[in-house]
Amino acid sequence: PIDLTGRHFLKEPDVTAEEFRHLLDLAAELKAAKRAGTEHRRLTGRNVALIFEKTSTRTRCAFEVAAADQGASTTYLDPMSSQLGHKESVRDTARVLGRMFDAIQYRGAGQATVEELAAHAGVPVYNGLTDDWHPTQMLADMLTVREHGDRPLERTAFAYLGDARANMGNSYLVTGALLGMDLRVVAPRALWPSEGVIATAKAMAAGSGARLSLTEDVAEGVRGAQFVATDVWVSMGEPKEVWDERIALLAPYAVTMDVLRATGNDEVRFLHCLPAFHDLGTGVGREIHARHGLESLEVTDEVFESEHSVVFDEAENRLHTIKALMVATLAAPGPE
Ligand code: CP
Ligand code: NVA
Repeated sequence: PIDLTGRHFLKEPDVTAEEFRHLLDLAAELKAAKRAGTEHRRLTGRNVALIFEKTSTRTRCAFEVAAADQGASTTYLDPMSSQLGHKESVRDTARVLGRMFDAIQYRGAGQATVEELAAHAGVPVYNGLTDDWHPTQMLADMLTVREHGDRPLERTAFAYLGDARANMGNSYLVTGALLGMDLRVVAPRALWPSEGVIATAKAMAAGSGARLSLTEDVAEGVRGAQFVATDVWVSMGEPKEVWDERIALLAPYAVTMDVLRATGNDEVRFLHCLPAFHDLGTGVGREIHARHGLESLEVTDEVFESEHSVVFDEAENRLHTIKALMVATLAAPGPE
Protein backbone atom coordinates (compact mmCIF):
# COMPACT_ATOMS: atom_id res chain seq x y z
CA PRO A 1 0.00 0.00 0.00
CA ILE A 2 1.10 3.55 -0.76
CA ASP A 3 1.65 5.70 2.34
CA LEU A 4 2.42 9.38 1.80
CA THR A 5 2.00 10.44 5.44
CA GLY A 6 4.37 13.26 6.35
CA ARG A 7 5.72 13.65 2.82
CA HIS A 8 6.58 16.88 1.03
CA PHE A 9 5.39 17.63 -2.53
CA LEU A 10 8.06 19.86 -4.04
CA LYS A 11 8.52 18.66 -7.61
CA GLU A 12 7.37 15.75 -9.73
CA PRO A 13 10.68 13.85 -9.93
CA ASP A 14 10.48 13.38 -6.13
CA VAL A 15 7.51 11.02 -6.34
CA THR A 16 7.07 7.62 -7.95
CA ALA A 17 4.51 6.93 -10.65
CA GLU A 18 2.62 4.75 -8.13
CA GLU A 19 2.49 7.60 -5.63
CA PHE A 20 1.30 10.03 -8.30
CA ARG A 21 -1.38 7.61 -9.47
CA HIS A 22 -2.43 7.02 -5.87
CA LEU A 23 -3.04 10.76 -5.49
CA LEU A 24 -5.15 10.75 -8.66
CA ASP A 25 -7.18 7.77 -7.41
CA LEU A 26 -7.74 9.46 -4.06
CA ALA A 27 -8.71 12.73 -5.77
CA ALA A 28 -11.28 10.90 -7.90
CA GLU A 29 -12.72 9.29 -4.76
CA LEU A 30 -12.88 12.60 -2.90
CA LYS A 31 -14.49 14.29 -5.91
CA ALA A 32 -17.17 11.61 -6.12
CA ALA A 33 -17.78 11.77 -2.37
CA LYS A 34 -18.15 15.54 -2.40
CA ARG A 35 -20.64 15.30 -5.27
CA ALA A 36 -22.59 12.58 -3.53
CA GLY A 37 -22.61 14.46 -0.22
CA THR A 38 -20.80 11.60 1.51
CA GLU A 39 -17.43 13.23 2.15
CA HIS A 40 -15.84 12.36 5.51
CA ARG A 41 -13.74 14.92 7.30
CA ARG A 42 -10.30 13.42 7.75
CA LEU A 43 -8.38 16.60 8.59
CA THR A 44 -10.35 17.90 11.57
CA GLY A 45 -8.14 20.01 13.82
CA ARG A 46 -5.32 20.32 11.30
CA ASN A 47 -3.86 23.73 10.49
CA VAL A 48 -2.28 24.61 7.17
CA ALA A 49 -0.20 27.73 6.42
CA LEU A 50 -0.54 29.17 2.93
CA ILE A 51 2.40 31.37 1.95
CA PHE A 52 1.89 33.32 -1.27
CA GLU A 53 4.74 35.48 -2.54
CA LYS A 54 3.06 35.50 -5.96
CA THR A 55 -0.61 36.09 -6.69
CA SER A 56 -3.15 33.30 -7.12
CA THR A 57 -6.82 32.62 -7.65
CA ARG A 58 -7.11 28.85 -8.17
CA THR A 59 -4.32 27.55 -5.96
CA ARG A 60 -5.24 29.63 -2.94
CA CYS A 61 -8.96 28.91 -3.25
CA ALA A 62 -8.33 25.20 -3.83
CA PHE A 63 -6.27 24.92 -0.64
CA GLU A 64 -8.77 26.93 1.40
CA VAL A 65 -11.90 25.13 0.20
CA ALA A 66 -10.25 21.70 0.31
CA ALA A 67 -9.12 22.32 3.88
CA ALA A 68 -12.59 23.57 4.91
CA ASP A 69 -14.28 20.55 3.30
CA GLN A 70 -12.00 18.29 5.33
CA GLY A 71 -12.33 20.16 8.62
CA ALA A 72 -8.89 21.83 8.60
CA SER A 73 -8.09 25.52 9.09
CA THR A 74 -5.87 27.66 6.89
CA THR A 75 -3.88 30.85 7.48
CA TYR A 76 -3.04 32.96 4.44
CA LEU A 77 0.31 34.79 4.51
CA ASP A 78 1.22 37.28 1.81
CA PRO A 79 4.67 38.82 1.49
CA MET A 80 3.60 42.22 2.76
CA SER A 81 2.03 40.98 5.95
CA SER A 82 4.67 38.44 6.98
CA GLN A 83 8.34 38.71 7.83
CA LEU A 84 9.35 36.08 5.27
CA GLY A 85 12.37 37.09 3.28
CA HIS A 86 12.52 40.62 4.70
CA LYS A 87 13.17 40.43 8.41
CA GLU A 88 13.53 36.72 8.92
CA SER A 89 15.32 33.93 7.11
CA VAL A 90 13.40 31.16 5.37
CA ARG A 91 15.00 28.69 7.76
CA ASP A 92 13.73 30.51 10.84
CA THR A 93 10.28 31.00 9.32
CA ALA A 94 10.17 27.28 8.56
CA ARG A 95 11.02 26.37 12.15
CA VAL A 96 8.40 28.76 13.55
CA LEU A 97 5.59 27.70 11.22
CA GLY A 98 6.52 24.06 11.75
CA ARG A 99 5.77 24.48 15.47
CA MET A 100 2.29 25.86 14.79
CA PHE A 101 1.07 24.23 11.61
CA ASP A 102 0.65 20.68 10.36
CA ALA A 103 1.62 21.59 6.78
CA ILE A 104 2.83 24.57 4.74
CA GLN A 105 1.99 25.57 1.18
CA TYR A 106 4.47 27.86 -0.54
CA ARG A 107 4.08 29.78 -3.81
CA GLY A 108 6.87 32.07 -4.93
CA ALA A 109 9.79 32.44 -7.29
CA GLY A 110 12.43 30.25 -5.80
CA GLN A 111 12.46 26.48 -5.90
CA ALA A 112 15.36 26.83 -3.46
CA THR A 113 13.03 28.63 -1.04
CA VAL A 114 10.41 25.88 -0.99
CA GLU A 115 13.19 23.27 -0.62
CA GLU A 116 14.66 25.26 2.28
CA LEU A 117 11.26 25.45 3.97
CA ALA A 118 10.89 21.70 3.57
CA ALA A 119 14.33 21.05 4.99
CA HIS A 120 13.58 22.90 8.22
CA ALA A 121 9.82 22.88 8.85
CA GLY A 122 9.45 19.35 10.17
CA VAL A 123 5.98 19.18 8.55
CA PRO A 124 4.90 18.50 4.95
CA VAL A 125 5.60 21.36 2.55
CA TYR A 126 3.70 21.69 -0.74
CA ASN A 127 4.95 23.62 -3.76
CA GLY A 128 2.03 25.74 -5.00
CA LEU A 129 4.16 27.02 -7.94
CA THR A 130 7.71 28.24 -8.28
CA ASP A 131 9.56 29.56 -11.32
CA ASP A 132 10.66 25.98 -12.02
CA TRP A 133 7.77 23.63 -11.22
CA HIS A 134 3.99 23.52 -10.73
CA PRO A 135 3.42 20.02 -9.35
CA THR A 136 -0.07 20.48 -7.86
CA GLN A 137 -1.22 21.71 -11.29
CA MET A 138 0.05 18.42 -12.76
CA LEU A 139 -2.20 16.44 -10.45
CA ALA A 140 -5.22 18.42 -11.66
CA ASP A 141 -4.20 18.14 -15.30
CA MET A 142 -3.64 14.40 -15.16
CA LEU A 143 -6.95 13.85 -13.37
CA THR A 144 -8.56 15.84 -16.18
CA VAL A 145 -6.74 13.76 -18.79
CA ARG A 146 -7.95 10.59 -17.10
CA GLU A 147 -11.53 11.88 -17.05
CA HIS A 148 -11.61 13.07 -20.64
CA GLY A 149 -9.29 10.56 -22.26
CA ASP A 150 -10.37 7.34 -23.94
CA ARG A 151 -7.23 5.37 -23.09
CA PRO A 152 -4.70 4.87 -20.28
CA LEU A 153 -2.17 7.62 -19.64
CA GLU A 154 0.63 5.44 -21.03
CA ARG A 155 -1.02 5.47 -24.42
CA THR A 156 -2.01 9.13 -24.31
CA ALA A 157 -0.34 11.65 -26.64
CA PHE A 158 -0.12 15.08 -25.03
CA ALA A 159 1.30 18.14 -26.81
CA TYR A 160 2.34 21.25 -24.91
CA LEU A 161 2.77 24.38 -27.06
CA GLY A 162 4.34 27.67 -26.05
CA ASP A 163 6.84 28.82 -23.46
CA ALA A 164 8.43 25.54 -22.42
CA ARG A 165 11.26 26.86 -20.25
CA ALA A 166 9.07 27.88 -17.32
CA ASN A 167 7.20 25.94 -14.65
CA MET A 168 4.46 24.45 -16.84
CA GLY A 169 6.77 23.26 -19.63
CA ASN A 170 9.15 21.68 -17.12
CA SER A 171 6.35 20.06 -15.17
CA TYR A 172 4.62 18.59 -18.23
CA LEU A 173 7.85 17.10 -19.54
CA VAL A 174 8.78 15.34 -16.31
CA THR A 175 5.20 14.33 -15.51
CA GLY A 176 4.84 12.77 -18.95
CA ALA A 177 8.14 11.00 -18.32
CA LEU A 178 7.02 9.83 -14.88
CA LEU A 179 3.71 8.43 -16.08
CA GLY A 180 5.01 6.82 -19.28
CA MET A 181 3.14 9.14 -21.66
CA ASP A 182 3.75 10.26 -25.24
CA LEU A 183 4.67 13.82 -24.28
CA ARG A 184 5.55 16.39 -26.93
CA VAL A 185 7.04 19.81 -26.25
CA VAL A 186 6.28 22.06 -29.21
CA ALA A 187 8.18 25.32 -28.95
CA PRO A 188 10.98 27.37 -30.46
CA ARG A 189 14.30 25.93 -29.36
CA ALA A 190 15.15 29.11 -27.44
CA LEU A 191 12.21 28.34 -25.11
CA TRP A 192 12.76 24.62 -24.55
CA PRO A 193 13.31 23.35 -21.02
CA SER A 194 16.90 23.52 -19.77
CA GLU A 195 19.31 20.71 -20.59
CA GLY A 196 19.17 19.67 -16.96
CA VAL A 197 15.39 19.27 -17.01
CA ILE A 198 15.51 17.40 -20.33
CA ALA A 199 18.16 15.05 -18.93
CA THR A 200 16.05 14.41 -15.81
CA ALA A 201 13.00 13.70 -17.95
CA LYS A 202 14.92 11.37 -20.26
CA ALA A 203 16.30 9.41 -17.33
CA MET A 204 12.76 9.04 -15.94
CA ALA A 205 11.45 8.03 -19.36
CA ALA A 206 13.99 5.24 -19.57
CA GLY A 207 12.32 3.70 -16.53
CA SER A 208 8.70 4.35 -17.44
CA GLY A 209 8.75 3.73 -21.19
CA ALA A 210 7.57 7.28 -21.89
CA ARG A 211 8.07 8.67 -25.37
CA LEU A 212 9.32 12.24 -25.11
CA SER A 213 9.86 14.59 -28.02
CA LEU A 214 10.83 18.21 -28.45
CA THR A 215 10.13 19.90 -31.76
CA GLU A 216 9.82 23.34 -33.30
CA ASP A 217 7.34 22.00 -35.86
CA VAL A 218 3.71 22.50 -34.78
CA ALA A 219 2.13 20.12 -37.32
CA GLU A 220 4.54 17.32 -36.45
CA GLY A 221 4.25 17.97 -32.72
CA VAL A 222 0.47 17.80 -32.49
CA ARG A 223 -0.21 15.02 -35.03
CA GLY A 224 -2.29 12.29 -33.39
CA ALA A 225 -2.47 14.07 -30.03
CA GLN A 226 -5.44 13.49 -27.71
CA PHE A 227 -4.59 16.59 -25.67
CA VAL A 228 -3.19 19.99 -26.56
CA ALA A 229 -2.14 22.38 -23.80
CA THR A 230 -0.60 25.79 -23.50
CA ASP A 231 0.23 28.43 -20.88
CA VAL A 232 0.82 32.17 -20.74
CA TRP A 233 3.79 33.37 -22.77
CA VAL A 234 5.15 35.53 -19.97
CA SER A 235 5.00 34.17 -16.44
CA MET A 236 4.55 35.91 -13.12
CA GLY A 237 7.67 37.69 -12.02
CA GLU A 238 9.09 38.21 -15.51
CA PRO A 239 9.77 41.79 -16.60
CA LYS A 240 7.27 43.48 -18.91
CA GLU A 241 10.04 44.04 -21.44
CA VAL A 242 10.06 40.38 -22.51
CA TRP A 243 6.55 40.59 -23.98
CA ASP A 244 7.59 41.83 -27.44
CA GLU A 245 10.27 39.19 -27.86
CA ARG A 246 8.00 36.41 -26.54
CA ILE A 247 5.15 37.38 -28.86
CA ALA A 248 7.52 37.36 -31.83
CA LEU A 249 8.89 33.94 -30.91
CA LEU A 250 5.62 32.32 -29.92
CA ALA A 251 3.03 33.70 -32.33
CA PRO A 252 3.33 30.56 -34.54
CA TYR A 253 2.64 28.39 -31.47
CA ALA A 254 -0.72 29.90 -30.52
CA VAL A 255 -3.42 27.25 -30.15
CA THR A 256 -5.93 27.93 -32.92
CA MET A 257 -8.64 25.78 -34.49
CA ASP A 258 -6.12 24.95 -37.23
CA VAL A 259 -3.77 23.55 -34.59
CA LEU A 260 -6.56 21.40 -33.15
CA ARG A 261 -7.44 20.20 -36.67
CA ALA A 262 -3.78 19.34 -37.28
CA THR A 263 -4.04 16.70 -34.55
CA GLY A 264 -6.31 14.78 -36.94
CA ASN A 265 -8.41 13.97 -33.89
CA ASP A 266 -12.00 15.25 -33.71
CA GLU A 267 -12.12 14.49 -30.00
CA VAL A 268 -8.96 16.43 -29.11
CA ARG A 269 -9.18 18.23 -25.77
CA PHE A 270 -7.64 21.57 -24.88
CA LEU A 271 -6.06 22.31 -21.48
CA HIS A 272 -4.76 25.54 -19.93
CA CYS A 273 -3.81 25.95 -16.28
CA LEU A 274 -5.24 29.52 -16.39
CA PRO A 275 -5.20 32.48 -16.21
CA ALA A 276 -5.35 32.76 -20.03
CA PHE A 277 -4.99 35.55 -22.56
CA HIS A 278 -7.73 34.38 -24.90
CA ASP A 279 -9.67 37.60 -25.32
CA LEU A 280 -7.54 40.70 -25.15
CA GLY A 281 -10.43 43.01 -25.93
CA THR A 282 -12.03 42.62 -22.53
CA GLY A 283 -9.50 44.19 -20.26
CA VAL A 284 -6.69 41.99 -19.01
CA GLY A 285 -4.59 42.29 -22.13
CA ARG A 286 -5.75 45.66 -23.38
CA GLU A 287 -2.24 47.07 -23.41
CA ILE A 288 -0.96 44.21 -25.55
CA HIS A 289 -4.01 44.51 -27.76
CA ALA A 290 -3.33 48.19 -28.33
CA ARG A 291 0.37 47.65 -28.97
CA HIS A 292 0.30 44.56 -31.17
CA GLY A 293 -3.22 44.55 -32.55
CA LEU A 294 -3.67 40.96 -31.39
CA GLU A 295 -7.07 39.59 -30.34
CA SER A 296 -5.58 36.74 -28.33
CA LEU A 297 -2.19 35.33 -27.39
CA GLU A 298 -1.50 31.70 -26.49
CA VAL A 299 -5.02 30.49 -27.37
CA THR A 300 -7.79 31.93 -29.48
CA ASP A 301 -11.12 32.70 -27.90
CA GLU A 302 -12.67 30.28 -30.39
CA VAL A 303 -10.63 27.36 -29.02
CA PHE A 304 -11.00 28.46 -25.40
CA GLU A 305 -14.79 28.59 -25.68
CA SER A 306 -15.11 25.50 -27.90
CA GLU A 307 -16.37 22.05 -26.99
CA HIS A 308 -12.73 20.89 -27.09
CA SER A 309 -11.88 23.04 -24.10
CA VAL A 310 -11.91 21.39 -20.68
CA VAL A 311 -10.21 24.24 -18.84
CA PHE A 312 -12.91 24.67 -16.20
CA ASP A 313 -12.97 20.96 -15.39
CA GLU A 314 -9.21 21.29 -15.05
CA ALA A 315 -9.60 24.31 -12.74
CA GLU A 316 -12.17 22.47 -10.60
CA ASN A 317 -9.81 19.53 -10.35
CA ARG A 318 -7.29 21.75 -8.55
CA LEU A 319 -9.66 21.48 -5.57
CA HIS A 320 -10.03 17.71 -5.58
CA THR A 321 -6.36 16.98 -6.22
CA ILE A 322 -5.04 19.45 -3.64
CA LYS A 323 -7.49 17.92 -1.17
CA ALA A 324 -6.12 14.49 -2.01
CA LEU A 325 -2.58 15.74 -1.41
CA MET A 326 -3.46 17.09 2.02
CA VAL A 327 -5.44 13.99 3.00
CA ALA A 328 -2.68 11.65 1.82
CA THR A 329 0.06 13.49 3.67
CA LEU A 330 -1.82 14.67 6.80
CA ALA A 331 -4.73 12.41 7.65
CA ALA A 332 -4.42 9.82 10.36
CA PRO A 333 -4.41 6.35 8.77
CA GLY A 334 -7.75 4.55 8.75
CA PRO A 335 -11.12 4.97 7.11
CA GLU A 336 -12.21 8.17 8.89
N1 CP B 1 -3.34 27.62 -12.37
C1 CP B 1 -3.01 28.33 -11.29
O1 CP B 1 -2.06 28.01 -10.56
O2 CP B 1 -3.82 29.40 -11.04
P1 CP B 1 -3.62 30.53 -9.94
O3 CP B 1 -2.35 31.28 -10.34
O4 CP B 1 -4.85 31.35 -10.00
O5 CP B 1 -3.41 29.87 -8.60
N1 NVA C 1 3.54 29.93 -16.04
C1 NVA C 1 2.52 30.64 -15.31
C2 NVA C 1 1.60 29.69 -14.61
C3 NVA C 1 0.47 30.35 -13.85
C4 NVA C 1 -0.39 29.37 -13.10
C5 NVA C 1 3.18 31.58 -14.32
O1 NVA C 1 4.14 31.17 -13.66
O2 NVA C 1 2.76 32.74 -14.23
